[in-house]
Amino acid sequence: MTVPTTADPKTIGALITWAQGSLHASGSTNTSQEALWLLAYALEMKQHELVSRRDHAVSREELAQAESVISRRMTHEPLQYILGTQDFCGLDFHVTPAVLIPRPETELLIQEAIREGGFTDGAVLVDVGTGSGCVAVTLATILNDTRIFALDCSRDALAIAQGNAERHGVSDKITWKEGDLLSPLRECRVVGAVDAILSNPPYIADAMWADLQPEVRDFEPRLALVAGQKGTEFHERLLADAKPFLVPGGLLLMELGQGQAPLVRQAVEQVGGYIGVQTVRDEADIERVMIARRSS
Ligand SMILES: C[S@@+](CC[C@H](N)C(=O)[O-])C[C@H]1O[C@@H](n2cnc3c(N)ncnc32)[C@H](O)[C@@H]1O
Repeated sequence: MTVPTTADPKTIGALITWAQGSLHASGSTNTSQEALWLLAYALEMKQHELVSRRDHAVSREELAQAESVISRRMTHEPLQYILGTQDFCGLDFHVTPAVLIPRPETELLIQEAIREGGFTDGAVLVDVGTGSGCVAVTLATILNDTRIFALDCSRDALAIAQGNAERHGVSDKITWKEGDLLSPLRECRVVGAVDAILSNPPYIADAMWADLQPEVRDFEPRLALVAGQKGTEFHERLLADAKPFLVPGGLLLMELGQGQAPLVRQAVEQVGGYIGVQTVRDEADIERVMIARRSS
């Protein structure tokens, strides 16, 4: 889809109207707000400045910048990748197409870890599949004296996550490791010493990929989303691999996809060695987080 340029808006007010019309034509539903967010970003102004300067002339450079961001959005590129940022637990995270855009439901992982954890000074926590670092960085800002390991198989994701830790001043609390699931922990001398392992793993089944919204399917990293034939393959591996690292009573918290709780409960039974298994529902009443404790 191309951006209509014939309107050639001469003022900021006309530019806003043109942007709203272009977004509407591409199927966007929140056109008024998105137009203001995107134009504020393109013209390096606050939203209120845009609105109060409706009669101001638009320069050629400003028009080119505006066309560039609006045309990206018209191809369904997520707003967050264009603006380069997403809020998570009240913190601002830099995001690029190398990382999944943090989702509000993942905030439940943090809430439940804090509620169930009762972490004392020196606690050791692990975030598996850290992506943007939203889980590890948020925990590091909340918990004072903790040691956090953040793991991912994507080097590009780890670079973004490290930048986010610097942005929030918690770099010294987090150790970053690249590799497959928990395997990088083997060199960290934390066998039997981890108080909590948290993960929002990939959990989309292969067959569901084609049906995802274009914003997700065409722009977010497939590596971050697709698990395998069932969708619960990562949960099964985590249940087995986490056991040797957890202290007795240590927590495993995993985000779940809609309808996956029964399959993952079965996997808990098969793997054995966990007690106090429970799920927590999100605002949409979906069993979203599974919590299990390593038995003694
Ligand atoms: C669903 S995303 C979660 C990202 C972030 N924690 C969040 O909640 O927004 C899953 C992450 O797992 C990583 N990942 C996928 N397969 C992996 C593997 N085998 N080992 C380690 N990390 C993996 C992806 O690169 C991605 O960053």
